[in-house]
Amino acid sequence: MKIQPLEEADLPECAALFVQVFGAPPWNERWSAKAVARRFDDCWRTPGFFGLLATSEEGIAGFALGQLEQWDTRRHFHLREMCVALEMQRRGVGSQLMQALEDHLREAGVGRIVLHTARESDAQAFYDRCGFHTSAKMVMMSKRLTPNG
Ligand SMILES: CC(C)(COP(=O)(O)OP(=O)(O)OC[C@H]1O[C@@H](n2cnc3c(N)ncnc32)[C@H](O)[C@@H]1OP(=O)(O)O)[C@@H](O)C(=O)NCCC(=O)NCCS
Repeated sequence: MKIQPLEEADLPECAALFVQVFGAPPWNERWSAKAVARRFDDCWRTPGFFGLLATSEEGIAGFALGQLEQWDTRRHFHLREMCVALEMQRRGVGSQLMQALEDHLREAGVGRIVLHTARESDAQAFYDRCGFHTSAKMVMMSKRLTPNG
């Protein structure tokens, strides 16, 4: 398994993987290739963008991407998207990506990784296992502005 910084040229392949992974259970999300390309382009153009790509002999195995954010006296990394190819899941790829991400960020002086994920999901179990804790203080809120918003 090779893990290296994600380049702009890798985004289309990451987007194709994302459509497959998040279109499958347990997420069953309906992402079009166009919508993912737009989201990833937004992420790429955000100041402080950083991502890692994991590849095996068969091609792309997974990726993690997000951005550095200034906090009060510290910098955080906001992990925006992470996924591993369906056939490669539960084989340690996600853990290797997370370890490489932590190593890179610690080296860069970043003190914390923050992320949003679905409560009581497989993803939460994965992040728990990686040493993340669920905040008792913070809550994610949203408000629908249109019927399908
Ligand atoms: C979540 C994800 C990134 C984890 O990557 P992975 O390579 O499958 O995870 P690993 O093999 O490194 O798993 C490490 C540990 O995390 C936990 N874990 C991982 N996937 C899990 C699952 N589906 N259910 C329960 N626990 C899970 C387990 O404790 C696992 O260790 P174990 O296999 O020895 O029990 C990957 O499964 C994935 O892409 N899932 C779909 C997309 C997604 O949920 N992305 C994150 C949403 S924000």
